[in-house]
Parts: sequence; C-alpha cells; structure tokens
Amino acid sequence: MHPAFRHDSSRVMHFHTSRTDRTYYLRTFGCQMNEHDSERISGLMQGLGYAQADTPDEGDVLLYNTCSIREKADTRLIGHLGHARRLKADDPQRLVVVAGCLAQSRQAEFFQEHPYVDVLVGPQSLHLLPALLEERAVTGRQVGAFEESTSTWSAELPRVRRSGPLAWIQIMTGCSNFCSYCIVPYVRGPEASRPLGHIVDEATELATQGVREVTLLGQNVNAYGLELGVRGVSTFPGLLEALSEVSGLERIRFMTSHPKDVSPALIDAMAGLPSVCEHLHLPVQSGSDRVLRLMERRYDRAGYLDLVDRLRAAAPGLALTTDLIIGFPSETEHDFDETVGLVEAVRFDGAFTFQYSPRSRTAAAELPGRVDPVTLEARMRRLVETTQRLGAERNAQLVGSCVEVLVEGCSRRDADTMMGRTRTHKVVNFRAAHPVEPGDLVEVTIQSSSSTSLTGVSESPAVPGSRAGTTTRPTTRSPSPEAL
Ligand code: SAH
Ligand code: SF4
Ligand code: F3S
Repeated sequence: MHPAFRHDSSRVMHFHTSRTDRTYYLRTFGCQMNEHDSERISGLMQGLGYAQADTPDEGDVLLYNTCSIREKADTRLIGHLGHARRLKADDPQRLVVVAGCLAQSRQAEFFQEHPYVDVLVGPQSLHLLPALLEERAVTGRQVGAFEESTSTWSAELPRVRRSGPLAWIQIMTGCSNFCSYCIVPYVRGPEASRPLGHIVDEATELATQGVREVTLLGQNVNAYGLELGVRGVSTFPGLLEALSEVSGLERIRFMTSHPKDVSPALIDAMAGLPSVCEHLHLPVQSGSDRVLRLMERRYDRAGYLDLVDRLRAAAPGLALTTDLIIGFPSETEHDFDETVGLVEAVRFDGAFTFQYSPRSRTAAAELPGRVDPVTLEARMRRLVETTQRLGAERNAQLVGSCVEVLVEGCSRRDADTMMGRTRTHKVVNFRAAHPVEPGDLVEVTIQSSSSTSLTGVSESPAVPGSRAGTTTRPTTRSPSPEAL
C-alpha cells in the first residue's frame, strides 16, 4: 500500500474535536527548535481534545518529534519506536506519529522500513497534523506531509508552553548555508524570517504572562531579515532593538549565530542594549583553515579570532560557547591540533563536541579520508578534557563575585537549593536567605564552581532590569572582566 504523500484536505472530517478521554504521548529529540515545535504539537493535540500522557503505555497517540543531525540520533529513535511497535501490536487502535527532521529526510523509505507508523509529518508541515490524523482514521492508510519550505509558521499555531519565566520565540526557519556536513538545509528548507511585528507581539504577550527571559530561535538567527525578498525590511540588530522595548522582558538571548553573519551592528547591539544577555553561542566547528574550507563555513581561523577580540572589546563580560566537530573527513593530527589551539586561545566558557557523522545527501558524505574510530576516540578525549579544563578555570574566576540570577526553580538534586542562570547562561545553584520564587532576579555570591555550574548564596533580591555587567559587585576579590 502506498502512503499518501500529499495531504488531501477534501477528505477531512471533524470527529476528533469532541474527544476528551483520549491521550497522547510526546517524546522530543534534537535541538531547541524541536523542543519549541513540540510545544506547538502539544497545542494542536490538546486543541483536538487529547490530554498529555506521561508514558507511551498510557498514550492513544504516540508522537516522536525527531532529529537527524547525526547517526546516533537516528539509532536512539529506533529503540523508542520498537516500544511503540509493541504497544501498537497490543492495541492496533493506537496511532504512531513520527514528526520532525527524520520524517522529512526519509519520507517514503521510512514508511517502508516501519510499516506500523501511521503518520509522518515534516517540520514545515506541523499545521497539517490534525488533518493527517483524521485522514488516517478515515482512510486507514499511512499518510504523510513534507512541505519543503514554511508556508504556515509553526510559531503561529497554538502552544502549550513550559511553565515558568523562560520562553522560546521562533524568529526564523530553515538554513541556506549548506555547510558540507549538515543535513539541516535539506530537512528545514531555505531561510525565512518571521515578520518583526509578529515576533514583537508574541514577546509582548509572553511578558504579560510573566515571562522574563526569551530565547530567539533559528538555525542562523543573525541572518534574520537577510534573505531575498525581505532584505532591508528588518535586520537582526533591529529586531533586538524592538524587543528590548518590550516592557517586563528582562533578558533576551538568541541561538544559533553563524560567525560569518556577526555584523558590526550586532556587536553594537550586544554591547548597548541592556536586556540583550552577555552570552553568544558561536559555533566554530574547527580551528584548521583547511578543514573550515572543506566544511564550507566561509570564515577562517584568523577571522574567527578577530571576531572574538572585537566582541570581547565591545562587550567585556561576554561569555562565549561553541560547537566543535572532530574527525571531519581527512582531518589530520595537525588539523586537530589547530582546533585544540584555537580552543585554548579563545578560552570558551563551554563547548559541545561532536564526532563527525556522515549524512546522506550532504557534500561531505562523499569526501575521502574517514578518520578511524580509535583516533577519533583519542581526539574526543583530548578535546573534552581541554574544554572542561578551560570551562572550570573560567568559572573558578567567578568565585567571590556577585552575579544576577534569574530563578528558574528548585535544584534537581535538592529541594532546599534554588537553581537559576546568570546573564552569561551559567547554571547557579544557591541557597537564599529570603523567600525566592521562579521569575525573581536575585543577587548571588558565588562560593564554589565546577566546569559546568556555580554554587552560592543569596542575601538579597536583585534590582529588576539591571545588567550583570553592572550589578556584578566583587565581594572578596575582583574577577577579571573576561571571566564574568
Ligand atoms: N545552525 C546551528 C546548529 C546546527 S546543528 C549552527 O550552524 O551552528 C548543531 C551542531 O551539530 C553544529 O553546530 C555542528 O557542530 C553539529 N553537526 C551538524 N552536522 C553534523 C554532522 N554531520 N556530524 C557531526 N556533527 C554535526
Ligand atoms: Fe547546518 Fe551550517 Fe546551517 Fe548550521 S549553518 S544549520 S551547521 S548548514
Ligand atoms: Fe536535529 Fe532538526 Fe534540530 S536535525 S538539530 S532537530 S533542526
């Protein structure tokens, strides 16, 4: 039986809407964009009258919002789907839905390999999910929707938001960069920027609901407003400026930024707009010019280092984090040394390190010179050791200083300890001498640190709206500005 790859809305009926006793289970893989899309999937499912179940065993509809960035992401999903298949064998009325990037990348092939899957829906087609579920129920056939580019912003769909003072806002979709190793442009389509007014409206509404910090999401957020057709209408620094006017919004973050699109105007905006946080996630991927060229990243080592200097000069307490790929085809020991050297030179606050994983359709998958697993493991160990040591050193420099923390909730390990983050995105676990609620801004004196978090004590609430750079008051000794 052939799956219906084009959704046919004429066959859709509306019996889902009256159901209130049905449940859905939703499991999310991948990046924050997927987490955010899952808020929209939940919004759609609850709009259909389904309640969320905590485990797959309790779900009538089992949804998996998938990632395809590396092979590991695919294999993890297969384990979960095995469970879904068994549950469906017990109760054939159950529906299994695979959403997201893997659905988009595999399409028909995936249905053939997983005949128990009922619905496939790509990231650009989430708005069709209710109609696809109905079509499946009516026709009994596997159905899928795989729009190539965004026609309906998932950001405009209903959403069930994670509670608390933090929220995501999608500002772009897709990516047009085609880095040679990366599948994202193939599964998320070309870059498209959401209208500025819609973003500001969403931010304003979130602020009235008590949200104090927003993270602007896109694969390449600093290319906001640069694609053909909208060029010149608005820019990323312009968007940051408009959002910094939204009352009640204390903090603005964004990810991910591409080094080639960090403009002087963005550096000025980061330095000058009080609500824009002093943190930039700026993936460098490699420190070798030869590898950067093969990756088609469109910057070189010297350019990246110069950018870091300019950013730190303009915004002194800036924290920098990065992504690194090791074992890119033909990577030599010398190339890898250059990556380690760059990491040492920049002294990142944190880094995600990934082993290169060949992805079908990408240019790099065709390149010769696969790095052997033993070498790969050794390089991984060395790089992780380096990034952890540097992260620990940078965090240690904060011991004794006072930082502004936005409270997110209790610490995972201990209900008497609160957890929040600095403007530089560092996790702080702390005890408070005064009542503290999620959403409060407090000043915390840092007493100890590790490579990934800080620990301290809060004697007094912070002044809302103040900047970490200016509220950081050394108590026992001054941390160097770059350590903040
Ligand atoms: N748009 C963002 C993030 C993309 S995915 C950016 O450009 O930075 C997140 C990270 O996954 C990338 O930064 C890269 O380090 C890693 N990645 C992407 N494709 C990969 C692959 N094929 N193998 C290993 N890591 C990969
Ligand atoms: Fe992938 Fe490169 Fe686009 Fe990031 S910028 S999503 S790494 S193609
Ligand atoms: Fe994965 Fe898709 Fe995000 S491939 S990293 S979920 S954009």
